Amino acid sequence: MRLPSTRWTARGGLLLLLGTVWPAAAQEVDVARLPPAAEITVGFDRDIRPIFESACYRCHSGERPRSRYSLADRESAVRGGAVGVAIIPGDSERSPLIHYVARLVEGMEMPPSSRDEPLSPEQVALLRAWIDQGAAYEGTGGEASAPPMKLVSTLSFQWFSVRGNEAKFRETVGRPDGFAGGIQDFEWDQALGDDRKVTVAGRVLPGLEDYEIALAYERTDVGFVRGGYTQYRRWFDGVGGYYAPFGVGAYELDADSLHVDTRRAWFELGLDRPDLPRITVGYEYLVREGERSTLQWGMVVDPATFDARAIYPAAKQVNECR
Ligand code: HEC
Repeated sequence: MRLPSTRWTARGGLLLLLGTVWPAAAQEVDVARLPPAAEITVGFDRDIRPIFESACYRCHSGERPRSRYSLADRESAVRGGAVGVAIIPGDSERSPLIHYVARLVEGMEMPPSSRDEPLSPEQVALLRAWIDQGAAYEGTGGEASAPPMKLVSTLSFQWFSVRGNEAKFRETVGRPDGFAGGIQDFEWDQALGDDRKVTVAGRVLPGLEDYEIALAYERTDVGFVRGGYTQYRRWFDGVGGYYAPFGVGAYELDADSLHVDTRRAWFELGLDRPDLPRITVGYEYLVREGERSTLQWGMVVDPATFDARAIYPAAKQVNECR
């Protein structure tokens, strides 16, 4: 007894479905007259909301929208109002909303023709692309072409314990003994729309006194502004010569102060327009500062024999800038 009634329900459902689909199909919408969908990754906030705001929300949002059709959120926008389904996500060609805004259905031109300007073919193309891409109600656009934000970084930690001449180690290896580490490199890219980008990159290694920060703002076909700062340190060994007959160990300078820091700051401005030759102007400031050892060792005289040898270590102050 159950089986026939189940069959009836199924057939009833099928009829109902035909009932809603039929009138729309019968209206003979000439989709060949639709402008093609825009070939971009649509962002709702950037591309669609402004169209709705200027041409649709006045009637299709709020408490009592026209035709009981609200464009205020995705669910009601897709569901439609008194007339029926308005959007078929993924299929703009068959979405009634597109037929209405492209003015292909007589009496359903949106916005209605009396006062408002019709949407431009570009706006219809954007709405089409938006529906074809799923009709999402979020997204600022530009995601698929370039991720809006990217952060890459490498951390590095090292520990060296040195037995013997620490200063020599510092000079050769280019780092002090003990712990050193930090951010070996990092890069942060932030897209600001399709054609603009900010990049911050650098390195932060406190134990090594090695720092870099580079900032860039680029705009496709317009130009760029870049600037940055680098600093690194070179260590020097402050040990002098050794002469066995004197019977004393090698003389040594205060090694901690023997290093030279190089600091560089720069700024660059570029014009990169397709119709003009590329122009770049830049400014750079370089400072070298510290104390380094030299090989012009001083004389040491043995008081017993008056024998003299150039074995006393020497250092010189470095202070340059340009
Ligand atoms: C001046 C008010 C007004 C503006 C502006 C307007 N509409 Fe409408 N819209 C209406 C009215 C009135 C109806 C019902 C028309 C009818 O049933 O004949 C309607 C119906 C619709 C429907 C069918 C909804 C349903 O009931 O199933 C859609 C879809 C629609 N509009 C989309 C839009 C879009 C998209 C815009 C902006 C580009 C827009 N409308 C701008 C007044 C407006």
